Amino acid sequence: MLERTLVLLKPSTVERALIGEIINRFEKKGLRIAGMKMLQLDDDILAEHYAHLKNKPFFGILKASMMKTPVVAMCLEGVDAIAVVRYITGYTNGRKADPGTIRGDYCMSNQQNIVHASDSPEAAEAELKRFFRPEEIFDLKDMNLSRLYAVDEI
Ligand code: TYD
Repeated sequence: MLERTLVLLKPSTVERALIGEIINRFEKKGLRIAGMKMLQLDDDILAEHYAHLKNKPFFGILKASMMKTPVVAMCLEGVDAIAVVRYITGYTNGRKADPGTIRGDYCMSNQQNIVHASDSPEAAEAELKRFFRPEEIFDLKDMNLSRLYAVDEI
């Protein structure tokens, strides 16, 4: 199924000048960028975004690390995009993530781990609403999906 998912390029990516390189990985894979912008996160949006971690001892430093620089928010689109993006993002801790995954290739940290990616259809829906207005996500009317997928996949 054609899906949309949210990716955030975290301050660790922005500070290390890896924005282009990470976007390149997603584009080369065949995921379409349906929306993209740079924004400064604040405590309110992070408290919502990381609500599932609010009782963890690292919650405060996690929020601070996400406010250190602006982030790049992306809406990526493709067949099974939510699972595909999680798969190529890799395990949370960069020291344990497989080589070939983004976190495995670009970081040594459990927290400064380059990207956030929605982990379920429910999260993707809520997170895209959190970071994008509807008019900031674009359809590509004449996109030729047959270059990316077999006829029975789309
Ligand atoms: P989580 O949702 O568990 O992982 P993921 O980003 O892979 O979906 O955690 C969200 C972020 O919280 C994670 O990307 C980095 C941070 N974090 C820590 O700083 N320390 C930790 O021990 C964990 C589990 C996460």
